[in-house]
Amino acid sequence: MTELTHPLATVPQDELVARAEADPLRPRFHFVSPAGWLNDPNGVSQWNGTYHLFYQYNPEGAFHHRIQWGHATSTDLVTWTDQPVALEPSAGPDAEGCWSGVLVNDGGTPTLVYSGRFEDRELPCVAVGSPDLLNWTKDPGNPVIAAPPAGVDVTAYRDHCVWREGTKWRQLVGSGIRQRGGTAFLYESADLRSWDYIGPLFIGDASQGDPADTDWTGTMWECVDLFRAGHGSLGSAPSNASPDVLVFSAWNDGDTHHPLYWTGRYAGDSFEPAALHRLDYGGRFFYAPQSFEDESGRRVMFGWMQEGRSDAAMVEAGWSGVMSLPRTVTASEDGTLRFAPVPEIKKLRRGHVGLSGLVLGGAPVPLETGVSGQQLDLELDLELAPGALLRLGVLGSIGGSTSDGPAEETVIELRRADDGGNNGTLRLDRTQSSLDPTVDVDDKSGPVPMPEGRVHLRVILDRSAVEIFANGIALTARIYPTLGGENVSLAAEGTAKVLSLDAWTMADIFDGTRSLFP
Ligand code: FRU
Repeated sequence: MTELTHPLATVPQDELVARAEADPLRPRFHFVSPAGWLNDPNGVSQWNGTYHLFYQYNPEGAFHHRIQWGHATSTDLVTWTDQPVALEPSAGPDAEGCWSGVLVNDGGTPTLVYSGRFEDRELPCVAVGSPDLLNWTKDPGNPVIAAPPAGVDVTAYRDHCVWREGTKWRQLVGSGIRQRGGTAFLYESADLRSWDYIGPLFIGDASQGDPADTDWTGTMWECVDLFRAGHGSLGSAPSNASPDVLVFSAWNDGDTHHPLYWTGRYAGDSFEPAALHRLDYGGRFFYAPQSFEDESGRRVMFGWMQEGRSDAAMVEAGWSGVMSLPRTVTASEDGTLRFAPVPEIKKLRRGHVGLSGLVLGGAPVPLETGVSGQQLDLELDLELAPGALLRLGVLGSIGGSTSDGPAEETVIELRRADDGGNNGTLRLDRTQSSLDPTVDVDDKSGPVPMPEGRVHLRVILDRSAVEIFANGIALTARIYPTLGGENVSLAAEGTAKVLSLDAWTMADIFDGTRSLFP
């Protein structure tokens, strides 16, 4: 048996996998680590046809400590094969952890740029891979940048976005300038080893808004990700349909707030922001996203779906953290982003149930849909009258203790504005989602365009993980029902037409016991 080294490592390592696999709340078709802890997606890429997903991993237990790079590969973005850990802390600049980073193709050599943690701070490090991306060798010159920019008082300094521009490499490192706001420092290099500091790409203003705001930009930007949405690459001639997008995760003093993005224009050595947007209305439940362009030219993004239960409950469960399904990122006509699960996910659909031409209205009596399950893919085409509210309940338990409704139910709400305009709201109501009083049930909501009251709603439910897309606007969260309810119900206040509802149960992606150390 492996020796337990950390005070939180209370579950023996040889028991972790069994504990994790026995948990009914553990997703079955989202990627999760074999057991233990998972956070950010790293090095997301496609290499010679194969997709690679690396992730922040602690196989010692379900807590954040001595982070390694877990690794899994896929040929279809749906099923994943566990691969040996890619990076592990070793004596030197990453002795305390191999924190987040990216994979680039250096003239045919797979190369990782990541944050090595040592003595409570992080610095940029490099490792090169074997042609199959399974064995990694750290650069003897690590860290490749010795310190944050001189003379700048930084709140933190880590995470990387690296791209090729002309004959040079460019890199962003996420950071924040004390008393000012989050930022990303821009560097340039000919060889990924020797970097020239250029300056801050753009500096946020932490004094704007309130730290409780869903779009507060924080005092530090984690996991910065700069890309051009639509066609063209960074630095090439711009077009209006293809904004440059700077994604970051707003952080403050140890608190992970939410992912946001600026649209704007990256030119020369700076980024001229146009507008700030929320990337996912679930906030911290879709954190530290990282994206890549795959071989077919799609931009594909993964995010870390954090837990909403206590640290002690995670440790007890033997696992923590879910990787979102890969989602495509596209630019809408107004330049804001739209998201959808990659179509490949449809492969997991089983047992179709369909409804159509349903008119809900009047009293809010829930309609039993005949659909049930804890692993579902639901697709609805809806038309809401002005002021109408549609409630889609999932994971409902009938015969519960309360007389006026199910004992547990998670409710997805869509409301169209009273004025009959093209606006509405998406809301996730988790207040009745669990009888466990310790889990996070905060309200999650935000505006959704609803042209003529029309909404295409996609709900992907995988036990404690839910990903919602309403007209391409994402809301991702976690839920922890205790009763094992499977009911799906519909109700409306005002008139809501269900033009169609298609439902499938979703198959598991892992069979057999996984190994903590593949
Ligand atoms: C974001 C983050 C990154 C860091 C990594 C450590 O969730 O805090 O900033 O590199 O996780 O695991």
